Amino acid sequence: MIYIKNKTEIDKMRKAGAFAAKLLNYLAPYVKVGASTLELNDIAEDFTKKNGHRSAPLGYKGFPKSICSSINQVVCHGIPKLEDVLKEGDIINLDVSPIVDGYIGDTSRTFLVGETDPLVKKLVDDTEKSMWIGIEQVKPGNRVDEIGNAIDDFLTPKGYGIVRDLMGHGVGRNFHEEPQIPHFRMNRKLAKMEAGMIFTVEPMVNLGTWEVLFDKQDKWTVRTKDGKWSAQFEHTILVTDKGYEILTQEN
Ligand code: MF3
Ligand code: CO
Ligand code: CO
Repeated sequence: MIYIKNKTEIDKMRKAGAFAAKLLNYLAPYVKVGASTLELNDIAEDFTKKNGHRSAPLGYKGFPKSICSSINQVVCHGIPKLEDVLKEGDIINLDVSPIVDGYIGDTSRTFLVGETDPLVKKLVDDTEKSMWIGIEQVKPGNRVDEIGNAIDDFLTPKGYGIVRDLMGHGVGRNFHEEPQIPHFRMNRKLAKMEAGMIFTVEPMVNLGTWEVLFDKQDKWTVRTKDGKWSAQFEHTILVTDKGYEILTQEN
């Protein structure tokens, strides 16, 4: 069942989204050579708590930390660790999902650490562009699979692999609810968008194959199958009468 949010719920999602954006912006200056992903996690957790909020990932289906931190060939759901220290040329996706008054804002960005390989920088730029191309499809009457079609039409001719095993998702009181949002061409007609739906658009884009592997030990870390690098961007989007509103931005 796809929840259609009412005015009160939409206002709460605006607040949650704004705080998620604020948190990600707050983290940005700490992303630099020598920082560990555990430090970034702790900075995020402290900032969230100080503002009276909680982190949705912490304890979610057993996830052990407050944010996801995914470096280079890690596609998503990387677990922050003391040993994972950023080096010149790395890329890192930080994915934050605070709970504000019961509602969750979900947003992520891939950061460049110092000077990166031009091909990698292009991957990151194209991934962000593809997210915006997907978001532009959001309006009542369009179907959610059209988001994936648009993203696919932009990325596939450039030779990238688009992750298929993980998708965007409805979000609200629940971290993950219907509908699923594909970032690739599914060749299937999925749900029609309606005003009041809230979901994420969060393409995961690889320099090589679209195929991924789930870590057997920690059960969370998702890596590219071929070890090539991967980027991701994510916003939480409200379907409005005319089109869309980005909820995960500061106001
Ligand atoms: N924030 C992720 C998403 O975009 C979900 C992370 S689940 C976690 O859907 F448990 F790993 F945090
Ligand atoms: Co998400
Ligand atoms: Co997320």
